[in-house]
Amino acid sequence: MKYKFLDNTNHFIDYLLKTFLKDKKILVDMTCGNGHDSLRILQNVPNYEKLYFYDIQKKAIENTRSLLESYAYKNCIYLNKSHDDLSDIEENIDFAIYNLGYLPGADKKLVTRLDTTMSSIQQLLIRLNYGAIIMITTYPGHEEGSLEDGKIYDYLKSLDQKIFNVIKLEFINQKNKPCKTYILEKRSEDDGEKSNL
Ligand SMILES: C[S@@+](CC[C@H](N)C(=O)[O-])C[C@H]1O[C@@H](n2cnc3c(N)ncnc32)[C@H](O)[C@@H]1O
Repeated sequence: MKYKFLDNTNHFIDYLLKTFLKDKKILVDMTCGNGHDSLRILQNVPNYEKLYFYDIQKKAIENTRSLLESYAYKNCIYLNKSHDDLSDIEENIDFAIYNLGYLPGADKKLVTRLDTTMSSIQQLLIRLNYGAIIMITTYPGHEEGSLEDGKIYDYLKSLDQKIFNVIKLEFINQKNKPCKTYILEKRSEDDGEKSNL
């Protein structure tokens, strides 16, 4: 390995998960794929109460289920549907992660789409508990991913800073449009200010 820390953003994201998610209870993986992100979340958030998983691919749900069952994780709710339908989630949410794009090695046509992604994010933001964290990784290197990233950036940039803080993690010296990760935190207390959502 040429780089030990900044070879990709995973080490940094793991650090954030470990540090800031200790007390989070209701977690959602919006694009579970093969379950690698779900596993990283569960390993870093020992006090969770429930983890919901979405994927439109049956195979992805099966892979995630078999991975997490091999670690005996409990209270996992598998949703083989699009993440713009939040109706199965009973509680308000403390943490959600989107790893957008397509699953490496699978059908590239089964890629996340601008409209459903935006609808999902917009619905999610009004279902959050105070102090909730959201992570969104985009892949602007392919056409749909570039459109998705642009729209997400514009939307997140417009959020009221009294309610959300948003940062962007990005390799600024890499060629070929590398991935970007957006991290949002919802303010911890209600001070009576109205949201612009
Ligand atoms: C980059 S992969 C996710 C990788 C995964 N988190 C992992 O750790 O293996 C993106 C996933 O999003 C899924 N996907 C695409 N559109 C979706 C939608 N509307 N709702 C939920 N999942 C979707 C794809 O099937 C694919 O598995």
